[in-house]
Amino acid sequence: MKFAVIGGTGLIGSQVVRVLNAAGHEAVPHSQSTGVDVISGQGLDEAVARADVVVNLTNSPTFDEASPAFFQTSMENLLTAAQKGGIGHFVILSIVGADQVPELDYYRAKVLQENILAAGPIPYSIVRATQFMEFIDAVLSWTTDGDTVRLPATPIQPIASKDVANAVAEVAAGAPLNGIHNIAGPEIFPLDELGRTTLSHKGDNRTVVTDPTAGMFAVVKGDVLTDTQAHLAPTRYTDWLA
Ligand SMILES: NC(=O)c1ccc[n+]([C@@H]2O[C@H](COP(=O)([O-])OP(=O)(O)OC[C@H]3O[C@@H](n4cnc5c(N)ncnc54)[C@H](OP(=O)(O)O)[C@@H]3O)[C@@H](O)[C@H]2O)c1
Repeated sequence: MKFAVIGGTGLIGSQVVRVLNAAGHEAVPHSQSTGVDVISGQGLDEAVARADVVVNLTNSPTFDEASPAFFQTSMENLLTAAQKGGIGHFVILSIVGADQVPELDYYRAKVLQENILAAGPIPYSIVRATQFMEFIDAVLSWTTDGDTVRLPATPIQPIASKDVANAVAEVAAGAPLNGIHNIAGPEIFPLDELGRTTLSHKGDNRTVVTDPTAGMFAVVKGDVLTDTQAHLAPTRYTDWLA
């Protein structure tokens, strides 16, 4: 099958391209660096013209109040191009529990992206993943002040990007779900504990202080970012760190 992987040079996109091509498919990466822009629409018609399936793995440049506009405009442009190109399956990657955290602009933006896809004319699949293991360092940096990192005890179920890419590729190569497929890491940790494990593994001298008001995950209620019923990926966090 032929896949147009939009955002195919990013963390997940580049791995999805590799997995699909290794399985004998023809997957082509597209992004601003290859001359395709989902916001201006530049190059989109050509990018999807020869594809059977579009996999959209683009990301907003910011996680703030500008992110809903990014996902709205990009989805409208991509769906227009995909419809013109006769695309039979459109896949996006969203976040487990995104609809349960409307306080976060970025999570509202991901739900908006899902809703635009589901309301559109093209058979689709939504893969929802938990927080990427590769994302934890950034989470720690956001609430670092000197030698202290403040983190709430929000339950997090981190997943390796490699496992996300395998799952996205598998869904993309299958029949459209016209629904949501949740994937998650094999273990759940309170975020503060995840921070301590990460720092100690790296020999980082910063100290984690538990603070229920710190950072973006402070607004998350209960365990909505985890899903024990999801498809559980194999990679454990400490193995990934190693
Ligand atoms: N972080 C998490 O824990 C998490 C969890 C679940 C789901 N997700 C979702 O996973 C998806 C992929 O994330 P990622 O970490 O792989 O993203 P990433 O590494 O930041 O890659 C983003 C990709 O989008 C492309 N891009 C950005 N703006 C573009 C534009 N205007 N036109 C065309 N291409 C554009 C980038 O290419 P250029 O650099 O060339 O523009 C790059 O290929 C996101 O939608 C995110 O919401 C993330």
